[in-house]
Amino acid sequence: MAKDVAVVTGASGGIGKAIARMIHEKSGGELQICLHCRGNKISAEELQKEIPGSFVVQADLATTEGRRELLEAAVEKGHPFVLVNNAGVDKPHEPALMIQESSFDEILGANLKSAAFLMRDFGKEMAGAGAGVIVNMSSVLAGKALIGSALYRASKAALEALTKQFAFELGPKGVRVNAVAPGFIETPMTREIPPEMRDKIRSETALGAFGAPEAVAQAVCHLIENDYINGAVLTVNGGMSL
Ligand SMILES: NC(=O)c1ccc[n+]([C@@H]2O[C@H](COP(=O)([O-])OP(=O)(O)OC[C@H]3O[C@@H](n4cnc5c(N)ncnc54)[C@H](OP(=O)(O)O)[C@@H]3O)[C@@H](O)[C@H]2O)c1
Repeated sequence: MAKDVAVVTGASGGIGKAIARMIHEKSGGELQICLHCRGNKISAEELQKEIPGSFVVQADLATTEGRRELLEAAVEKGHPFVLVNNAGVDKPHEPALMIQESSFDEILGANLKSAAFLMRDFGKEMAGAGAGVIVNMSSVLAGKALIGSALYRASKAALEALTKQFAFELGPKGVRVNAVAPGFIETPMTREIPPEMRDKIRSETALGAFGAPEAVAQAVCHLIENDYINGAVLTVNGGMSL
C-alpha cells in the first residue's frame, strides 16, 4: 500500500478502529489516516491519540454538510486513495409491522445514503487521479432475516447493490469498489444483545463464536491490497450464512 490519505468512517466504533489501525500498520505510515467519528462515543481529541500522525473529522454523514466536511478535510491533506464506508447503525430494532419513517430515515441515512454520496464524491476525486479503492461495510443480515432487522437488512442489501454498480462504472477509471459482509462481531453494536439471543447466534454460526473486529479489518485490507478484486462482497461470518 502507498499513496496519500485513507479515510475510515465510524472509526470510533469497534470495527472502524480495528480497520484504521490495521491500514496504518500495513501501509507503514505511508498512508495518512483520516479517522472519522460522529462524536457520540469518544471525543475527536481522544480518537486522534489512537493512531500517530492521523487526523480526525467529526461529522454526521447522514447530512450533506457532514459529508462535505469529510471530503474537504481529506482532500486538503492529499489524494484520498482509500475510503472505507464503515459508519453505521442497526437500531431501532422494529418488527416489520412496526417500522417507523423516522427509523427509516435514521438507518438508511447512516448506512446507505452516507455511503452512496461519499462513493460519488470520493469516487470523482479518485477517478480524476485514476487510482483509488473503496470498501463498504455490509452485513450477513443483507441476506438473512432476523426479527427487528427489516430496515437494517434493506440498507445493507442496497449497499451491496450500490457496491457492484460503482465497481462496474468506476473500474474503467482505475477505482475498485468492494464490500465486506461480517457476521456477528464483538463491538459496542452487539454488546447489548441478550444472552439467549447470543446463544442462538452462536448455534447458527459454524465456528460457534462471535468474531473479532480484527478479522473484519484483515478482510478490508485484503480488498485494498488485491488489485484484481472488484465488485466483490467478502463474507467474514464464521460460517453463519451456509
Ligand atoms: N458488530 C457487528 O456484529 C456487525 C456485523 C455486521 C456489520 N456491521 C457493520 O459494521 C459497521 C461498524 O459496526 P460496529 O459494530 O463497529 O459499530 P459501532 O461500534 O456501533 O460503531 C459505529 C460507528 O458508526 C458511527 N456512525 C453511526 N451513525 C453515523 C452517522 N450518521 N454519521 C457518522 N457516523 C455514524 C458511530 O459514530 P458514534 O460512535 O460517534 O455514534 C461509530 O463510529 C457498521 O456499518 C455495522 O452495520 C457490524
